[in-house]
Amino acid sequence: MRATSPPALPADLTAGLRRLKLATIRQLAPELLLTAKTQRWTPEEVLRALIEAEIAARDASNERARLKAAGFPVLKTVEEFDLTLSSIPAPTFAYLTSLEWIDAKENLALIGPAGAGKTHTLIALGHAAVTAGHKVKYLTAADLVESLYRGLADNTVGKTIEALLRHDLLQIDEVGFAPLDDTGAQLLFRLVAAAYERRALGIASHFSYEDWGRFLPEHTTAVSMLDRLLHHATTVVTSGQSYRMREARTRTGGAPRNP
Ligand SMILES: Nc1ncnc2c1ncn2[C@@H]1O[C@H](COP(=O)(O)OP(=O)(O)OP(=O)(O)O)[C@@H](O)[C@H]1O
Ligand SMILES: [Mg+2]
Repeated sequence: MRATSPPALPADLTAGLRRLKLATIRQLAPELLLTAKTQRWTPEEVLRALIEAEIAARDASNERARLKAAGFPVLKTVEEFDLTLSSIPAPTFAYLTSLEWIDAKENLALIGPAGAGKTHTLIALGHAAVTAGHKVKYLTAADLVESLYRGLADNTVGKTIEALLRHDLLQIDEVGFAPLDDTGAQLLFRLVAAAYERRALGIASHFSYEDWGRFLPEHTTAVSMLDRLLHHATTVVTSGQSYRMREARTRTGGAPRNP
Protein backbone atom coordinates (compact mmCIF):
# COMPACT_ATOMS: atom_id res chain seq x y z
CA MET A 1 0.00 0.00 0.00
CA ARG A 2 1.10 3.51 -0.83
CA ALA A 3 1.81 5.90 2.04
CA THR A 4 0.15 8.82 0.26
CA SER A 5 -2.73 8.72 -2.17
CA PRO A 6 -1.84 9.86 -5.71
CA PRO A 7 -2.61 13.47 -6.65
CA ALA A 8 -5.99 13.97 -8.29
CA LEU A 9 -6.09 14.69 -12.02
CA PRO A 10 -6.30 18.37 -12.99
CA ALA A 11 -9.95 19.44 -13.22
CA ASP A 12 -9.87 20.02 -17.00
CA LEU A 13 -8.63 16.46 -17.62
CA THR A 14 -11.28 15.02 -15.33
CA ALA A 15 -13.94 17.05 -17.14
CA GLY A 16 -12.64 15.99 -20.57
CA LEU A 17 -12.55 12.30 -19.63
CA ARG A 18 -16.04 12.59 -18.18
CA ARG A 19 -17.29 14.21 -21.39
CA LEU A 20 -15.69 11.46 -23.49
CA LYS A 21 -17.22 8.88 -21.12
CA LEU A 22 -13.80 7.36 -20.40
CA ALA A 23 -14.77 6.38 -16.86
CA THR A 24 -12.13 3.70 -16.37
CA ILE A 25 -9.29 5.96 -17.49
CA ARG A 26 -10.66 8.70 -15.22
CA GLN A 27 -10.62 6.29 -12.28
CA LEU A 28 -7.24 4.70 -12.95
CA ALA A 29 -5.25 7.65 -14.24
CA PRO A 30 -4.13 9.21 -10.91
CA GLU A 31 -2.66 5.97 -9.57
CA LEU A 32 -1.33 4.89 -12.95
CA LEU A 33 0.37 8.21 -13.67
CA LEU A 34 2.12 8.06 -10.30
CA THR A 35 3.32 4.51 -10.97
CA ALA A 36 4.44 5.56 -14.44
CA LYS A 37 6.46 8.42 -12.98
CA THR A 38 8.20 6.35 -10.30
CA GLN A 39 8.86 3.45 -12.67
CA ARG A 40 9.84 5.71 -15.60
CA TRP A 41 7.38 4.32 -18.12
CA THR A 42 7.59 5.58 -21.69
CA PRO A 43 4.71 7.78 -22.90
CA GLU A 44 3.55 4.90 -25.13
CA GLU A 45 3.42 2.56 -22.14
CA VAL A 46 1.28 5.02 -20.22
CA LEU A 47 -1.11 5.49 -23.12
CA ARG A 48 -1.30 1.75 -23.75
CA ALA A 49 -2.05 0.90 -20.11
CA LEU A 50 -4.86 3.46 -19.99
CA ILE A 51 -6.41 2.42 -23.31
CA GLU A 52 -6.20 -1.29 -22.51
CA ALA A 53 -7.91 -0.76 -19.16
CA GLU A 54 -10.74 1.21 -20.78
CA ILE A 55 -11.23 -1.42 -23.50
CA ALA A 56 -11.23 -4.29 -20.99
CA ALA A 57 -13.82 -2.54 -18.81
CA ARG A 58 -16.04 -1.82 -21.82
CA ASP A 59 -15.80 -5.38 -23.13
CA ALA A 60 -16.80 -6.69 -19.72
CA SER A 61 -19.72 -4.30 -19.45
CA ASN A 62 -20.94 -5.12 -22.99
CA GLU A 63 -20.74 -8.82 -22.17
CA ARG A 64 -22.83 -8.32 -19.03
CA ALA A 65 -25.40 -6.38 -21.08
CA ARG A 66 -25.54 -9.08 -23.78
CA LEU A 67 -25.91 -11.78 -21.13
CA LYS A 68 -28.82 -9.95 -19.54
CA ALA A 69 -30.45 -9.28 -22.92
CA ALA A 70 -30.16 -12.97 -23.87
CA GLY A 71 -32.86 -13.75 -21.31
CA PHE A 72 -31.62 -17.13 -20.12
CA PRO A 73 -33.96 -18.42 -17.39
CA VAL A 74 -31.00 -19.96 -15.53
CA LEU A 75 -27.29 -19.97 -16.18
CA LYS A 76 -25.75 -23.17 -17.53
CA THR A 77 -22.27 -23.62 -18.88
CA VAL A 78 -20.48 -25.98 -21.24
CA GLU A 79 -18.12 -26.91 -18.39
CA GLU A 80 -21.03 -28.03 -16.20
CA PHE A 81 -22.33 -30.36 -18.91
CA ASP A 82 -21.24 -33.95 -18.34
CA LEU A 83 -20.82 -35.35 -21.82
CA THR A 84 -20.38 -38.90 -20.49
CA LEU A 85 -23.95 -38.80 -19.18
CA SER A 86 -25.29 -37.52 -22.48
CA SER A 87 -26.00 -39.17 -25.82
CA ILE A 88 -24.40 -36.26 -27.69
CA PRO A 89 -21.31 -37.57 -29.52
CA ALA A 90 -18.10 -35.81 -28.43
CA PRO A 91 -17.16 -34.61 -31.96
CA THR A 92 -20.65 -33.11 -32.41
CA PHE A 93 -20.39 -31.36 -29.05
CA ALA A 94 -16.91 -30.07 -29.99
CA TYR A 95 -18.29 -28.68 -33.26
CA LEU A 96 -21.15 -27.00 -31.43
CA THR A 97 -18.89 -25.44 -28.81
CA SER A 98 -16.60 -24.14 -31.59
CA LEU A 99 -19.54 -21.84 -32.43
CA GLU A 100 -18.56 -21.99 -36.13
CA TRP A 101 -22.15 -22.82 -37.00
CA ILE A 102 -23.27 -19.44 -35.67
CA ASP A 103 -20.98 -17.54 -38.05
CA ALA A 104 -22.12 -19.87 -40.85
CA LYS A 105 -25.78 -19.06 -40.00
CA GLU A 106 -26.54 -22.74 -39.58
CA ASN A 107 -29.12 -24.15 -37.21
CA LEU A 108 -29.07 -26.52 -34.27
CA ALA A 109 -31.96 -28.80 -33.44
CA LEU A 110 -31.96 -30.67 -30.13
CA ILE A 111 -34.50 -33.45 -30.03
CA GLY A 112 -35.11 -35.64 -27.02
CA PRO A 113 -37.21 -36.53 -24.00
CA ALA A 114 -37.61 -34.62 -20.73
CA GLY A 115 -34.52 -34.01 -18.63
CA ALA A 116 -32.01 -35.17 -21.24
CA GLY A 117 -30.13 -31.88 -21.38
CA LYS A 118 -31.73 -29.91 -24.24
CA THR A 119 -32.20 -26.66 -22.34
CA HIS A 120 -28.83 -27.04 -20.63
CA THR A 121 -27.12 -27.45 -24.00
CA LEU A 122 -28.98 -24.50 -25.55
CA ILE A 123 -28.18 -22.17 -22.68
CA ALA A 124 -24.58 -23.34 -22.34
CA LEU A 125 -23.95 -22.75 -26.05
CA GLY A 126 -25.80 -19.43 -25.90
CA HIS A 127 -23.68 -18.38 -22.95
CA ALA A 128 -20.48 -19.38 -24.79
CA ALA A 129 -21.70 -17.36 -27.79
CA VAL A 130 -22.32 -14.30 -25.59
CA THR A 131 -18.81 -14.63 -24.16
CA ALA A 132 -17.43 -14.84 -27.71
CA GLY A 133 -19.13 -11.54 -28.55
CA HIS A 134 -22.36 -12.72 -30.19
CA LYS A 135 -25.82 -11.34 -29.58
CA VAL A 136 -28.09 -14.13 -28.43
CA LYS A 137 -31.78 -14.34 -27.56
CA TYR A 138 -33.39 -17.25 -25.72
CA LEU A 139 -37.17 -17.72 -25.80
CA THR A 140 -39.58 -20.55 -25.29
CA ALA A 141 -41.77 -21.24 -28.30
CA ALA A 142 -44.79 -20.23 -26.22
CA ASP A 143 -43.28 -16.83 -25.36
CA LEU A 144 -42.18 -16.33 -28.94
CA VAL A 145 -45.59 -17.09 -30.41
CA GLU A 146 -47.24 -14.93 -27.78
CA SER A 147 -45.10 -11.93 -28.67
CA LEU A 148 -45.75 -12.50 -32.40
CA TYR A 149 -49.47 -12.74 -31.62
CA ARG A 150 -49.27 -9.37 -29.87
CA GLY A 151 -47.70 -8.00 -33.05
CA LEU A 152 -50.73 -9.16 -35.03
CA ALA A 153 -52.97 -6.88 -32.98
CA ASP A 154 -51.06 -3.72 -33.89
CA ASN A 155 -49.55 -4.79 -37.20
CA THR A 156 -45.98 -5.06 -35.94
CA VAL A 157 -45.23 -8.73 -36.62
CA GLY A 158 -42.65 -7.76 -39.26
CA LYS A 159 -40.94 -5.38 -36.87
CA THR A 160 -40.92 -7.94 -34.05
CA ILE A 161 -39.34 -10.52 -36.36
CA GLU A 162 -36.71 -8.05 -37.59
CA ALA A 163 -35.88 -7.15 -33.97
CA LEU A 164 -35.42 -10.84 -33.12
CA LEU A 165 -33.24 -11.32 -36.18
CA ARG A 166 -30.86 -8.62 -34.99
CA HIS A 167 -29.42 -11.39 -32.81
CA ASP A 168 -26.73 -13.66 -34.22
CA LEU A 169 -28.29 -16.66 -32.52
CA LEU A 170 -31.97 -17.03 -31.76
CA GLN A 171 -32.83 -19.93 -29.46
CA ILE A 172 -36.33 -21.35 -29.32
CA ASP A 173 -36.81 -23.84 -26.51
CA GLU A 174 -39.77 -26.15 -25.81
CA VAL A 175 -41.00 -26.26 -29.41
CA GLY A 176 -44.17 -28.32 -29.44
CA PHE A 177 -44.75 -28.37 -25.65
CA ALA A 178 -48.06 -26.67 -26.36
CA PRO A 179 -49.90 -27.28 -29.62
CA LEU A 180 -50.13 -24.29 -31.95
CA ASP A 181 -53.26 -23.10 -33.68
CA ASP A 182 -53.21 -22.18 -37.39
CA THR A 183 -52.22 -18.57 -36.73
CA GLY A 184 -49.51 -19.52 -34.23
CA ALA A 185 -48.04 -21.99 -36.72
CA GLN A 186 -48.09 -19.39 -39.50
CA LEU A 187 -46.34 -16.88 -37.24
CA LEU A 188 -43.65 -19.39 -36.27
CA PHE A 189 -43.23 -20.24 -39.93
CA ARG A 190 -42.77 -16.56 -40.80
CA LEU A 191 -39.96 -16.29 -38.28
CA VAL A 192 -38.21 -19.47 -39.45
CA ALA A 193 -38.53 -18.37 -43.09
CA ALA A 194 -37.15 -14.91 -42.28
CA ALA A 195 -34.20 -16.39 -40.38
CA TYR A 196 -33.40 -18.91 -43.13
CA GLU A 197 -29.73 -18.48 -44.21
CA ARG A 198 -29.60 -15.11 -42.42
CA ARG A 199 -29.30 -16.07 -38.77
CA ALA A 200 -28.47 -19.13 -36.69
CA LEU A 201 -31.44 -20.74 -34.94
CA GLY A 202 -31.14 -23.15 -32.04
CA ILE A 203 -34.28 -25.08 -31.24
CA ALA A 204 -35.22 -27.78 -28.76
CA SER A 205 -38.19 -30.11 -28.86
CA HIS A 206 -39.51 -33.38 -27.47
CA PHE A 207 -40.77 -34.27 -30.92
CA SER A 208 -38.79 -36.00 -33.62
CA TYR A 209 -39.38 -34.43 -37.02
CA GLU A 210 -41.93 -36.95 -38.23
CA ASP A 211 -44.10 -35.99 -35.25
CA TRP A 212 -44.10 -32.24 -35.82
CA GLY A 213 -47.53 -32.64 -37.38
CA ARG A 214 -48.75 -33.30 -33.84
CA PHE A 215 -48.33 -29.68 -32.76
CA LEU A 216 -48.42 -27.94 -36.15
CA PRO A 217 -51.97 -28.03 -37.50
CA GLU A 218 -51.20 -27.74 -41.22
CA HIS A 219 -49.10 -30.52 -42.66
CA THR A 220 -47.69 -28.18 -45.31
CA THR A 221 -46.52 -25.69 -42.69
CA ALA A 222 -44.68 -28.46 -40.85
CA VAL A 223 -42.99 -29.62 -44.06
CA SER A 224 -42.00 -26.12 -45.22
CA MET A 225 -40.77 -25.13 -41.79
CA LEU A 226 -38.66 -28.26 -41.36
CA ASP A 227 -37.31 -27.88 -44.89
CA ARG A 228 -35.87 -24.46 -44.01
CA LEU A 229 -34.81 -25.39 -40.48
CA LEU A 230 -32.92 -28.48 -41.54
CA HIS A 231 -31.31 -27.38 -44.82
CA HIS A 232 -28.18 -26.21 -42.93
CA ALA A 233 -28.49 -27.77 -39.52
CA THR A 234 -26.93 -30.02 -36.94
CA THR A 235 -29.51 -32.31 -35.40
CA VAL A 236 -28.65 -33.68 -31.99
CA VAL A 237 -30.70 -36.41 -30.41
CA THR A 238 -30.51 -36.31 -26.62
CA SER A 239 -31.78 -39.68 -25.53
CA GLY A 240 -31.70 -41.72 -22.40
CA GLN A 241 -32.64 -41.34 -18.80
CA SER A 242 -33.74 -38.01 -17.41
CA TYR A 243 -30.89 -36.28 -15.60
CA ARG A 244 -33.47 -34.95 -13.15
CA MET A 245 -34.65 -38.49 -12.34
CA ARG A 246 -31.07 -39.67 -12.03
CA GLU A 247 -30.42 -36.93 -9.48
CA ALA A 248 -33.67 -37.62 -7.65
CA ARG A 249 -32.73 -41.29 -7.40
CA THR A 250 -29.25 -40.50 -6.14
CA ARG A 251 -30.65 -38.25 -3.44
CA THR A 252 -33.20 -40.76 -2.22
CA GLY A 253 -30.90 -43.73 -2.75
CA GLY A 254 -33.47 -45.59 -4.79
CA ALA A 255 -36.70 -44.76 -6.50
CA PRO A 256 -37.34 -41.14 -7.44
CA ARG A 257 -39.57 -39.33 -4.96
CA ASN A 258 -41.93 -38.08 -7.63
CA PRO A 259 -41.88 -40.71 -10.34
N1 LIG B 1 -25.25 -34.23 -19.31
C1 LIG B 1 -25.57 -33.39 -18.29
N2 LIG B 1 -24.61 -32.92 -17.46
C2 LIG B 1 -24.93 -32.10 -16.44
N3 LIG B 1 -26.18 -31.70 -16.14
C3 LIG B 1 -27.17 -32.14 -16.93
C4 LIG B 1 -26.93 -33.00 -18.04
N4 LIG B 1 -28.11 -33.26 -18.65
C5 LIG B 1 -29.03 -32.61 -17.95
N5 LIG B 1 -28.50 -31.93 -16.91
C6 LIG B 1 -29.20 -31.16 -15.88
O1 LIG B 1 -30.46 -31.79 -15.68
C7 LIG B 1 -31.51 -30.87 -15.57
C8 LIG B 1 -32.51 -31.09 -16.70
O2 LIG B 1 -31.89 -30.84 -17.95
P1 LIG B 1 -32.55 -29.89 -19.07
O3 LIG B 1 -33.39 -28.85 -18.41
O4 LIG B 1 -31.50 -29.45 -19.99
O5 LIG B 1 -33.50 -30.97 -19.78
P2 LIG B 1 -34.44 -30.81 -21.04
O6 LIG B 1 -33.98 -31.80 -22.06
O7 LIG B 1 -34.48 -29.38 -21.45
O8 LIG B 1 -35.84 -31.28 -20.45
P3 LIG B 1 -37.33 -30.77 -20.82
O9 LIG B 1 -37.66 -31.41 -22.12
O10 LIG B 1 -38.17 -31.30 -19.70
O11 LIG B 1 -37.31 -29.28 -20.90
C9 LIG B 1 -30.85 -29.49 -15.61
O12 LIG B 1 -30.62 -29.07 -14.29
C10 LIG B 1 -29.53 -29.76 -16.34
O13 LIG B 1 -28.54 -28.82 -15.95
MG1 LIG C 1 -35.98 -27.95 -21.38
